[in-house]
Amino acid sequence: MKKDLEKVLITKEQIEKRVQEIADEIEKDFPGEEIIFVGILRGSCYFMCDLTRCFSHNVFLEFMSVSSYIGTTSSGEVKITKDISRPLEGKVVVIVEDIIDTGYTLSYLKRILSERKPKALKICTLLNKPSRRKADIDGDYIGFEVPDEFVVGYGLDYNQKYRNLPEIGVLKSEIYEN
Ligand code: IMP
Ligand code: MG
Repeated sequence: MKKDLEKVLITKEQIEKRVQEIADEIEKDFPGEEIIFVGILRGSCYFMCDLTRCFSHNVFLEFMSVSSYIGTTSSGEVKITKDISRPLEGKVVVIVEDIIDTGYTLSYLKRILSERKPKALKICTLLNKPSRRKADIDGDYIGFEVPDEFVVGYGLDYNQKYRNLPEIGVLKSEIYEN
């Protein structure tokens, strides 16, 4: 897998350090709170696990699935393919996403989940690609800003591959051409 990378943008060590910092920020905003973390499958899987492990009191893990992407281009259409059953009313909810690109996915999810009346609804994203934004949405907790390049690793995929790379990088152009 690693041989398919043109370059590494974020190392395993940088991710580990930043994940702990984000958890500290969330903890500071909601001390001791039994937060409901809603991970968006499948890209947020490693981030969700590493982030929630940083809390020393109970937090809850929920997962949702949405579809919007085929290959490397966004369709702008979002559909929930797996919902959560836990009620969110009066709770602190943090949506955990791998990357905000156009922002369509999160602006849709934020609207849907806010209708369930949480006490607070925050967006936590590992990566942010602000140059590509189409929807008016931003993360409350952001790991790293990345340039306008398609990135893989630590949960992020290209056609379902490269998710289990421990670092985040850009693929060689010949990978897309094959
Ligand atoms: P958005 O709705 O355009 O913000 O797209 C969000 C989803 O697109 C993310 O959850 C990712 O699954 C996928 N995505 C966007 N950019 C990348 C990328 O550079 N690499 C891998 N997946 C990406
Ligand atoms: Mg995703």
